[in-house]
Order: sequence, then structure tokens, then C-alpha cells
Amino acid sequence: MTLLRDRDLARAFDHASQTYDRLTALNPGYRSELLRSARRLRLPDGGAGLRVLDLGCGTGASTRALLRAAPRARITAVDASSGMLRRALEKPWPAQVRFQHMTAEEFAAGEEGPFDAVFAAYLFRNVTDPDRVLTAVRTLLRPGGRLAVHEYSLSGAPVHRALWNAVCRAVIIPAGTLGGDRALYRHLWASVLGFDTAPAFADRLRRAGFTGVRLAPVAGWQTGIVHTFLARNGFAAGAGTAPPTTATATTGEMR
Ligand SMILES: C[S@@+](CC[C@H](N)C(=O)[O-])C[C@H]1O[C@@H](n2cnc3c(N)ncnc32)[C@H](O)[C@@H]1O
Repeated sequence: MTLLRDRDLARAFDHASQTYDRLTALNPGYRSELLRSARRLRLPDGGAGLRVLDLGCGTGASTRALLRAAPRARITAVDASSGMLRRALEKPWPAQVRFQHMTAEEFAAGEEGPFDAVFAAYLFRNVTDPDRVLTAVRTLLRPGGRLAVHEYSLSGAPVHRALWNAVCRAVIIPAGTLGGDRALYRHLWASVLGFDTAPAFADRLRRAGFTGVRLAPVAGWQTGIVHTFLARNGFAAGAGTAPPTTATATTGEMR
């Protein structure tokens, strides 16, 4: 099974954007589990005064989850696929949400930030160099800022790998093929098998310099297959308030 990367992946998502929302709506818990992960950021006061980044926002499902978790935050949503972004932009958004067509790597090289929190849902498994993107995320986050990664990352138990293979063979590949996106959904299958297990991704976060790394399961059939990873940019677990920066001075502590 071939993995798609960079431009090939963006093109595949451009095409799949036509059916993406319909297919994910068939996945029980897709949206509710995104919301659960976004809420796990525990942004205080509805996110008032906070800047939050949604990396790999796609058609906006993760952006919507962030908005529900932190309705008062300013949200920047970034994606490499113009097709996915077009679908996102067709939806109604309040003024504090804005979208940018860019790769995560390009975005990090710009002048944006610092952000108080970053949410990345189903992104890291897709990038060519996850360590590079994690380093980029650290440059975008203020010291002590929070990261939540929502990702297909198998537990390491054979039963979860077997379940993933069964769901791909029986549901995901046939459904993706019907929509004309067989290559992308075979990429999904293979990328999950080839990606870090959940404990390995938690270690990757620690190696990248994140602290207070925790992982939490999601509910439903995806238990043991999808996890939320929570971490902070450079402050030990339970360390409390980050030193004030321009951003934090006005935004307050995230507990
Ligand atoms: C599976 S979709 C998830 C979209 C959304 N976060 C959600 O939860 O529905 C993954 C998205 O990541 C984007 N993506 C993949 N690699 C990227 C990169 N290097 N930079 C930015 N976006 C990327 C794709 O274009 C795609 O829209």
C-alpha cells in the first residue's frame, strides 16, 4: 500500500473534499470525539482573549469542535488542500475564525504566533516529517501553551490492529472507492498501520521537548485506535502558570 505525501496528498484531499463530510458523518463519533479532544485543551473562560490554531483543519470539522470548546477564542485554521478549505469556507463562521491555505510547515515559517493552544486532528500521520512539524508547533506556541493532537494511533494491542484492518476492508476502502478516492483511503489504512503506536507518539512528543504529555482514549469503536495526546510547550506537568508573555499577560493562565 502506497503512502501519499505532500502535493500528491493535497491533491487527493482536494478531490476527496467533495465527499469528505458525507463520509465522516457515517463514522459514529467522528464529530463528538473531535469535540471531546478539543475540550480536553481545557481553555478557560470560553477561550476569551486566547489565540488558538487548528493545524490541518480540512473541511472545518475540527475547527467547529474548537469553536464549540472555546467560543470566545480567536481561531486560525490552516490546511494544505485548497479543496478541503473551499468546503470549510462554504460554511458559516463567526468573525473570529479565519482560514489560511498553507502547509503546517510553511505556516510555522511565517510571522504568526504565539498561539495559546494548537489543535491538530488527523494531521501528524499525514506529514512527511512529524518531528519537523512538532518543532514547528513549539515555535508557534507560547511558552506553556497547550497542544492537543487527535490522531489514529493504535494502542499496540493486536486486537486493535485487527479491528482497524477489518474496518478498513469492510467499510472504509469500499466507501472511499465508491467516492472515487480509493488511493486516499488506502493511504489512510496504511498510514495508520505505519504510524507510531500511541505510547510511541507520546515519546515522540517528549523528545520534541513537550512536557506534561498525557494520552487519553476516545469512546466507541475507535477506542484503542484513536487517542487524544495532550502536552505543553516546555513546562513540566502541573507547573501551573507559564511566565507572562505579551500574549499571556492579557489572556491569563490555562489550567
Ligand atoms: C484527515 S483530514 C482532517 C481534517 C480535520 N482536522 C478534521 O478533523 O476533520 C487531514 C487534513 O490534513 C491536511 N494536511 C495534511 N498534511 C498537511 C500539512 N503538511 N500541512 C497542512 N495540512 C495538511 C489535509 O489537507 C487534510 O485536510
